[in-house]
Amino acid sequence: MTATAFRSHRCGSLDPSLVGQTVRLGGWVHRRRDLGGLVFIDLRDRDGLIQLSCDPRWTPPEVMARAADAGAESVLLVTGTVALRPESARDATMATRDIEVQVRDLRVVGPAVTPAIPVARKEGEELPAEELRLKHRVLDLRRPELQANMMLRHRLLQCARRVMSELGFLEIETPILTKPTPEGARDYLVPSRVHQGEFYALPQSPQIYKQLLMVAGYDRYFQIARCFRDEDLRADRQPEFTQIDLEASFVAQEDVQAVVERVLVELWAEAGEAVTAPFPRLAWREAMERFGVDKPDLRFAFEIRDLTPLLQPDAAPFVQQAVEAGGRVRGIVAPGAAGASRKELDALTAAAREAKAGGLIWARRSPSGWDGQGVKAIGAATLERLGGSDGDLLLAVSGPDAVTSPALHNVRTLLTRRPGVVAERAHAFCWIVDFPLFERDPESGAYVPAHHPFTAPHPEDAGFLESDPGRCRALHYDAVYNGNELGSGSIRITDPALQSLIFRLLGIGAAEQRRRFGFLLDGLATGAPPHGGFALGFDRIAMLLAGATSLRDVIAFPKTTAARALFEGAPTTVDARDLAALHLEVTGAARRED
Ligand code: AMO
Repeated sequence: MTATAFRSHRCGSLDPSLVGQTVRLGGWVHRRRDLGGLVFIDLRDRDGLIQLSCDPRWTPPEVMARAADAGAESVLLVTGTVALRPESARDATMATRDIEVQVRDLRVVGPAVTPAIPVARKEGEELPAEELRLKHRVLDLRRPELQANMMLRHRLLQCARRVMSELGFLEIETPILTKPTPEGARDYLVPSRVHQGEFYALPQSPQIYKQLLMVAGYDRYFQIARCFRDEDLRADRQPEFTQIDLEASFVAQEDVQAVVERVLVELWAEAGEAVTAPFPRLAWREAMERFGVDKPDLRFAFEIRDLTPLLQPDAAPFVQQAVEAGGRVRGIVAPGAAGASRKELDALTAAAREAKAGGLIWARRSPSGWDGQGVKAIGAATLERLGGSDGDLLLAVSGPDAVTSPALHNVRTLLTRRPGVVAERAHAFCWIVDFPLFERDPESGAYVPAHHPFTAPHPEDAGFLESDPGRCRALHYDAVYNGNELGSGSIRITDPALQSLIFRLLGIGAAEQRRRFGFLLDGLATGAPPHGGFALGFDRIAMLLAGATSLRDVIAFPKTTAARALFEGAPTTVDARDLAALHLEVTGAARRED
């Protein structure tokens, strides 16, 4: 429905086949140039730009005057004739490079105040600060780059819906005003006006509902689900975000993985990238050992090696002590990186320290052998046993795995910035499987679910569940792409007794179980099929496929890292009267008078 009562075409979709035709356009003034009696305007809509040519030879004087006055970002309605541009005036930066519209009539129907941030930028001109852009989001959203991102996002959403539907999944919406669903973050709470002192929680995910839909016999569910999590934000996290959420009955892990692989292959194809499935599978323990992280970037090698067995008595005391205390010396041998500059080595050391490593041991190999501070630290005899080739750079860390793994992961990540290490368009998907079922809370030391408490234990480890819960693996799997966690899922517990036992191991007593999860336990007791599912982080996928580096570039109205909506101004204080109706009062330092 491009043609409407106001226009015949979109600006960016005009092409040379229309030369000679009269068109009616609507759009925004992207740029205006006044050239001694001639006015050129680049008119913009979501399809792109077209040059308007206002020339006394075809533009009436009063229209010339209006064109000369049209301010940046004002909305125009234009009638004119499509014409070929003179050869010398063709503009290769525009899709409509060869043509222009000779203006017969032009009206400013949406005058704009002087834009607070520019929409049109000169080549190489930097973007305004992000905070300013978020504040003036409606202008920023006009930027062709963001429009392209939002259009890609739309296509990806439609693609996901089509594929899920083709695979027999039913799109079913689950409640937004609900009961807390634990996914490891804090809940956003909504006070009930009618029920004093009671609160809804916004869903951290539709997890329990989708399981109950399986119990209810819907067999295959999906939803483009909005989730809400009150957690510390990073570039790849938003307080509200979108998942492609799915669940299926009578499935094992491989069945769910096959569905997810199909969705990912199609999403990548929609963005013009050909990728193939199945993806390689890697056990969690192996991923941690070889890459130091549970979302390894497999576009390049630089695997972590355990140097502990090579260690000789000439290693420095701090290294020996780390090993005596139960730690290890682990390192990466980066071929061809021996030429790394001092600055680069400092940056790599800083990356290791960021993960709490005491420092980074480095040594480089030349025809005359190993040199660098690492020779003293790990010892010449150890390096002799390591061997290596000319041009190798060894980067090593000693300490407990909890330190060496993240430190070497950081080091490995920084190594990707070296020229030629990662091919521009490389796609490395993998599955991480066999995650631990529980992890220890770093503060309290108590067991917490590694993901959520509804994941089934690995059948081979069920025997340790009560005796040694930390040893128990889960039927949990993550999809990873180029070092990013795209999504995660699991096979679920269907036996209410086992679910109750897991709650108990997590320190949730019988009464609390009833209060918080009674509806799930009762549901499972009504006849639950084996089931499992998955959730893909949709914003993350859109970001990666758009080539963006922040989720904010693929979300129309995102929040800042401080969880503020700068454009609309949220959160806000509310009137005392409104609070009273909700039986609430703001107390203490949190209280703010407007
Ligand atoms: P999980 O919590 O791992 O699993 O979430 C699934 C995926 O959602 C994305 N994601 C986020 N994206 C943006 N901002 C956030 N704050 C954010 N948090 C998570 C990630 C993540 O991999 N119910 C389970 C799934 C299941 O078991 O079926 C769940 O929500 O890409």
